[in-house]
Amino acid sequence: MDKLLVNGGCPLDGEVQLSGSKNATLPILIASLLCAEPLQVRNVPHLRDITTALKLLGHLGARVEFNEDLTVEVDSGDLHTLRAPYELVKTMRASILVLGPLLTRFGEAEVSLPGGCAIGSRPVDLHIRGLREMGAQVSIENGYIKASVGRGGLNGARILFDTVTVTGTENLLMAAVLARGITVLENAAREPEVVDLARCLIAMGGAIEGAGTDVITVTGVDALHGACHTVISDRIEAGTYLLAAAATRGRIRLTGYDPQHGDVVLEKLREAGAILSIDPRGVTLDMRKTQPQAVNLTTAPFPGFPTDMQAQFVLFNAVANGSSTVTETVFENRFMHVHELQRMGADIHLRGNTALIQGVTGLSGAQVMATDLRASACLVLAGLVAEGETMIDRIYHIDRGYDRIEEKLSQCGASIRRIPGWPATSVIPSREGASVSPLQS
Ligand code: UD1
Repeated sequence: MDKLLVNGGCPLDGEVQLSGSKNATLPILIASLLCAEPLQVRNVPHLRDITTALKLLGHLGARVEFNEDLTVEVDSGDLHTLRAPYELVKTMRASILVLGPLLTRFGEAEVSLPGGCAIGSRPVDLHIRGLREMGAQVSIENGYIKASVGRGGLNGARILFDTVTVTGTENLLMAAVLARGITVLENAAREPEVVDLARCLIAMGGAIEGAGTDVITVTGVDALHGACHTVISDRIEAGTYLLAAAATRGRIRLTGYDPQHGDVVLEKLREAGAILSIDPRGVTLDMRKTQPQAVNLTTAPFPGFPTDMQAQFVLFNAVANGSSTVTETVFENRFMHVHELQRMGADIHLRGNTALIQGVTGLSGAQVMATDLRASACLVLAGLVAEGETMIDRIYHIDRGYDRIEEKLSQCGASIRRIPGWPATSVIPSREGASVSPLQS
């Protein structure tokens, strides 16, 4: 397994080009399952989760072409299985997103239950309940969700989510585009990634209104067609680099940034003392002459403070002036990074779902272990701040969601190096077996 070796204590100063959003690309690639014509997706980030998604699509029988210019073309005209196996779903929970598209287009689907993960139990009950409300028969057998619907296909329905769920909204949105009649998703997720998926589905011929609000109305159509879609930039990657510069008291310019997607993070950074300038091509953060001030925050669904930026802010607060509280409300177990930060000298105490943080003047490098994607980003930032060497183990987590992180940070003057472990496995999607027939053509 690869490790990252960071030699910290140096302010960042440089420019980074943002990659396409992981959480937008995943459902958009999977949306290709909804039609028999090729979907071309541009600005696809080079990430392990994307490779897993393409492997899953290849396993189902889709033809996948990855071009040098970050464009992926997926042709799901001729699938040969409607089963997403445990081996693929366990490595990436977002694989559950194939459930809605397969069921609505082909009338059946079998997807392994993802199970728990490092940050919480993460059930998919709301995905299943919504599909049942649209007329699907769903059972759980041998660890798999088995879903089917009669020849008429899914019916439009009014679906009220108990909890705001991003992938739950996306799954039912994709199911609804080919359902009969009108589906209304209430208390829907408003994340920019959901809006980007809706834009792609509309380009494919879907009839969707209200994406970006908490009520999305979908009028089912008989079939979708191929399209070309450019994915939005990654707001969590952007936030992570802004925090890296802020925590090291440096400067960074991000190109390809959409400030509308990161409003609340920018607000918190301003409150913390950062000088931010935004222009049509990007954003610049300057923290060179400012003493960072700790900020209180509570995570919430969009437009609230993103849970995917919580770990990075815990690190920032740990080395800022003053005391602060960070409360996690989206996932029940998302403070694994705190124990590693404590080993580097941070003064943090956990009380329930709140971290009580007292800023310290510095951290010291240590051997630490990444436990999940955003926790590993927080440890990289901690390594950049700390005096001496930090060796971060299990960085496959970071490769799931950060495109060439060591290269981008090195461009800003960071001393960060990958120490190769076992050879990386290369993944070429395969197509085997007979075709399956769609409900709609
Ligand atoms: C997505 C993002 C992830 C982000 C999270 C919250 C992707 C691929 N991942 O994850 O990066 O951290 O949103 O912004 O887009 N829940 C239920 N039942 C369900 C579904 C969810 O109780 O059927 C709960 C979850 O346990 C959690 C909360 O709802 O407490 C939000 O989860 P959800 O928005 O579904 O997260 P993901 O879509 O898995």
